[in-house]
Amino acid sequence: MELLREILLEAESISFSRFMEVALYDEAGGFFARGRGPSGRSDFVTSPETGSLFGLMVGKAIESLWLAQGSPEDFVVIEAGAGSGRLCREVLRSERGFSSAINYITVERSEALRQVQAETLGRYSNVSILADLPDLSTSGVIIANELLDNLVFDIAEFTSDGWAEVRVALNADSAIGDSSPEFLEVLAPLDDFRSSLIPDFAPQIGARLPIQVGAFEWIARAATSIKDGAMILIDYAGNAEDLARRGGWLRTYRDHSRGDDPLLYPGEADITSDVVLDPIRDALIDSGFRIESETTQAEWLSGLGIEDEVATGEAAWLAGAARGDLEALIGRSRATEAAILTDPLGLGGFTVIVARRG
Ligand SMILES: C[S@@+](CC[C@H](N)C(=O)[O-])C[C@H]1O[C@@H](n2cnc3c(N)ncnc32)[C@H](O)[C@@H]1O
Repeated sequence: MELLREILLEAESISFSRFMEVALYDEAGGFFARGRGPSGRSDFVTSPETGSLFGLMVGKAIESLWLAQGSPEDFVVIEAGAGSGRLCREVLRSERGFSSAINYITVERSEALRQVQAETLGRYSNVSILADLPDLSTSGVIIANELLDNLVFDIAEFTSDGWAEVRVALNADSAIGDSSPEFLEVLAPLDDFRSSLIPDFAPQIGARLPIQVGAFEWIARAATSIKDGAMILIDYAGNAEDLARRGGWLRTYRDHSRGDDPLLYPGEADITSDVVLDPIRDALIDSGFRIESETTQAEWLSGLGIEDEVATGEAAWLAGAARGDLEALIGRSRATEAAILTDPLGLGGFTVIVARRG
């Protein structure tokens, strides 16, 4: 990627988060800025993109939070990293008790995806599409599905001297067109802020961890928008010690192919990692939230009654199968969608944190 080359001709090395920022979000050549991701050229599938059931369940979760707040007349839902807008559309279609109270704000950094949202959500007058978090302090809920894993992170490696930072440098021997890698990793001392995001433990030499700099800062900012209410964070995640022990937490996705070298194909591939939960919990607590629950997605959906929705869907199918009407077909697909959303080896194994304030 030309811009990264230019940056690294000026600097000896850059942090991994800086590399990721350019590779994913640069206006001209970044992966998301070019409209890639869960919609569009479809490099991976997220829960909202599996069908309408996930949005229905998120609608139920929002409704119970709205009821717990005493059914306020104005209730803001901020969906951060809203991608194609599919989740917002399904929540609004689910037409629950909160429908007249809700102001739904989608926040999406990619302009190309905001345009997709404008087409998907154009008919809803209570939806605003923003590029950044709004300047609010209100009652409501912030929901982020698979956002935290896309916020930039740095990388730490455990050495005989403790944790070091893995930075990115230009490979001086590479030339355009040859097969040697363009970018290389270099180790450097870790600064105090990054150190503070790593819990105190000593894994094997060579073990690595993502340092969740972007997610930590995002939570602190997002928290200021919600005076009374909740944050629902859904992502693939793990505890620091587990991730350092098992490795394999950094992944790239390019045209549905999974890889593990983020320095290859910058701009062409999504770069993502399992989210380290320890600094996420700290950021929520530091921001005045209390963690109400931390479950798998399968447990969370079960608690919201996904089995009942499947049973209702089956009944609709049995009643309408002969007619083959749309309601019956949607009913039939409920069981398949539920199986995908609750699969413990896939989306069902994601972590859902519900944190409350007020
Ligand atoms: C993995 S996608 C998930 C999209 C959607 N939530 C879904 O589940 O289908 C992450 C999205 O977050 C967006 N994003 C990344 N950083 C963001 C930020 N700081 N604010 C808003 N959106 C952001 C990306 O552009 C991308 O569309």
